[in-house]
Amino acid sequence: METLVNSASPIVEYPDFRLRAPSSPVVDFGSNLSLLIERLKDTHAAAGGIGLCAPQLGIAQRLILVNVDGDDYGSSTYVNPEIVSRAGLGVVEESCLSLPGILGKVLRAAAVRVRAQDERGNVFERDVSGLHAVCIQHEIDHLNGKLFIDRLFWFQKFRIRKLVRQLEDSARELASSAA
Ligand code: NI
Repeated sequence: METLVNSASPIVEYPDFRLRAPSSPVVDFGSNLSLLIERLKDTHAAAGGIGLCAPQLGIAQRLILVNVDGDDYGSSTYVNPEIVSRAGLGVVEESCLSLPGILGKVLRAAAVRVRAQDERGNVFERDVSGLHAVCIQHEIDHLNGKLFIDRLFWFQKFRIRKLVRQLEDSARELASSAA
């Protein structure tokens, strides 16, 4: 069924506390989940990037979307995703829609086997590699309240500290002007 209303939502940005809250497992596979998946898809289409998760919309549910241009998997939704095995390691430059303007190198498994549920609750496992695998790891971190800047090498943390502080300062200014 096609939705007529575009449900693209604003993306929660650092240092919003909601990005630090661990998300709960999805237990209800009804129409609310379908609506949330639509919102994720619409927001992803509007914002770009290769992945997005429910907590970035302010919803603390274990749901992620991965969509890497040109890979074999297409637009993939993973409900309650878990990594069951990893292989290889690589240094990858990452960014995040919740941390605009920041790039940094992190260490990730090169390939992972992921176990998840689909929109209807059916369990599946899939082996993925490359950017898709990197993105799954980044998004599962979000579900656990973790951001890629937590994983940066120390010299990279040092390099981005001013940008991180700018995000913190502008959030503080916004909060005080709203008060
Ligand atoms: Ni992110």
